[in-house]
Amino acid sequence: MAQTIALAGKGGVGKTTICGMLIEYLCEKKNGPVLAVDADANSNLNEVLGVEVQETLGDIREDIARAETAAVSPIPAGMTKADYTEMRFSDALTEADDFDLLVMGRTQGKGCYCFVNGLLTTQVAKYARNYRYIVVDNEAGLEHLSRGVLPQVDTILLVSDCSRRGIQAAGRLAEMIVDLKLGAKEVGLIVNRAPNGELNAGVREEIDKYGLRLMGVVPHDETVYEYDAEGKPSVTVPMDSPVKQAVRAIFDRLTL
Ligand SMILES: Nc1ncnc2c1ncn2[C@@H]1O[C@H](COP(=O)(O)OP(=O)(O)OP(=O)(O)O)[C@@H](O)[C@H]1O
Ligand SMILES: [Mg+2]
Repeated sequence: MAQTIALAGKGGVGKTTICGMLIEYLCEKKNGPVLAVDADANSNLNEVLGVEVQETLGDIREDIARAETAAVSPIPAGMTKADYTEMRFSDALTEADDFDLLVMGRTQGKGCYCFVNGLLTTQVAKYARNYRYIVVDNEAGLEHLSRGVLPQVDTILLVSDCSRRGIQAAGRLAEMIVDLKLGAKEVGLIVNRAPNGELNAGVREEIDKYGLRLMGVVPHDETVYEYDAEGKPSVTVPMDSPVKQAVRAIFDRLTL
């Protein structure tokens, strides 16, 4: 069974950047195949990783939901809707050199997705058996995790910036994780973009207040910003850059 690691946190705190670096780290470990899941409707994990994506699961769900009312059905004669959906879903798996990537994408939310969502859950569960690790990049909430499309999460990394509000958001997510009974074995906090890689007293106080388990602090690193500005994949920042050193030290401490 795959070990599933999900990243969550307030908008813009660095979830996708850290997620990309975790994927790179796990690929290097060569412990087994890695599936990256982009569960953000505004998907951009592929950019951080430097891979092109043709189709998202959202596009496919949209097509299938529309098939019923379409003048010309995209489903070939003699093929069941379930078989067609499964075929399309498998096309949506992007195979990179070291990992596979599945992008959830978005749907317009107008049609009925119950049928496709059911199939998607089954399909994702099937995929899960083929991988050693599944790494999920989330949008600000925990929507995909709570909806049950994704498999059981083992580790949740809450990411925050170096602000009280960021920590408060992470604290609330930690409470939601308990309320939703997500059953994660390990929940940790990563504070990202800390000036000089140091926490200030106010932030530390907030972390204690919420009882969050601090896994590590990642410094604000201009290299990440520059790569982003130049459109270069963030995972390709040099190995000796402060951000990479810091995140890798955190990953070393996780049960992976
Ligand atoms: N340690 C860092 N130092 C400097 N810049 C960083 C660092 N971490 C992330 N960034 C930059 O911050 C911005 C937001 O990062 P990222 O997209 O990873 O956040 P996110 O939490 O995934 O955002 P969203 O909620 O929109 O998905 C990006 O421009 C990224 O390059
Ligand atoms: Mg993101």
